Amino acid sequence: MKISVIGAGNVGATCAQALAQRDFVNEVVLLDIKEGIAEGKALDMCQRAPIDGYSTMVKGVTNNYEATENSAVVIITSGIPRKPGMSRDDLISTNAKIVKSVTEASVAASPDAKIIVVANPLDVMTYTAFLAAKKKPNEVMGMAGILDISRYKAFIGMELGVSVKEIQALLLGGHGDTMVPLPRFTSVAGIPVTSLIDESRLTAIVERTKKGGGELVKLMGTSAWYAPGTAAAQMAEAIVKNENRIFPVAAWLTGEYGQNDVFLGVPVQLGKNGIEKIVEVKLNDDEQALLNTSSEHVKAVMKVLDDMAIFS
Ligand code: NAI
Ligand code: 2OP
Repeated sequence: MKISVIGAGNVGATCAQALAQRDFVNEVVLLDIKEGIAEGKALDMCQRAPIDGYSTMVKGVTNNYEATENSAVVIITSGIPRKPGMSRDDLISTNAKIVKSVTEASVAASPDAKIIVVANPLDVMTYTAFLAAKKKPNEVMGMAGILDISRYKAFIGMELGVSVKEIQALLLGGHGDTMVPLPRFTSVAGIPVTSLIDESRLTAIVERTKKGGGELVKLMGTSAWYAPGTAAAQMAEAIVKNENRIFPVAAWLTGEYGQNDVFLGVPVQLGKNGIEKIVEVKLNDDEQALLNTSSEHVKAVMKVLDDMAIFS
């Protein structure tokens, strides 16, 4: 069993390392367009294996899609990250062309692969991959919700001084400042978070989560990679091991949550067929209004993609 990671930059390399350490596939192929970078990082990961004790073979290649043939999952991280002052949406003109071309090449080599997109702007790059892959909607999805919810849980853990292992939460919407963390569906060891953290602190945590990516861009001059790369690996593991775990994932919606023809973050069950099921919960009017706003934002960015006419 093989998983391929396209793009051997910060996120792609972290993802490949997380996959290798999880030790559930024989081979991880790391592909980049820059000569030598994937080969070097893969070799370094192979040399780490005896220390950490994993058997996964990591192979690095330069633009060689033959090496990715028959992958069970392809993870697309290739694309430029944002710099301070940029929004994720500013990346579309460069990243749409990259995502289109790498998806076409990946699907030609691995027609049965499930596709996980990481490149930004996430929801619209997932749509780009969906158009390029010509696959069923349950086989193409985007990683953002696991990262965003993980940031939310980390901030709650810091606030309460408790282990993040105790925290369960739900977050919906696009991967941007309009994402919708849902305190009403957040608990700590089964206790509603609303009875542990007062409203104003909880609002501050929700707002920090929404801008969590930007906080890191400001600090580092580029975007995050440890949590994003590991989140994508966790999705691939759920698919390959047919775990049927429920994660927030950017999925193609056809009426669910009142949204149509848009990739948006919603809870889904991940198993061997990719998205096995979209899980719907009843939102109150305020939550639904926030989700509608998030969906409208993603649709406005989809329009920018349409205007680029790269599929015509
Ligand atoms: P990076 O610049 O470190 O790595 C990108 C890699 O893609 C580079 O090594 C580059 O050579 C490669 N690449 C470019 N064109 C390619 C092509 N045609 N074929 C193969 N490889 C190609 O960037 P980083 O930090 O790894 O971020 C990657 C993307 O992921 C960015 O678009 C970033 O915004 C996004 N991202 C998304 C997150 C999410 O939650 N969905 C979280 C973090 C980053
Ligand atoms: C993040 O949220 C920039 O999407 C990237 O870290």
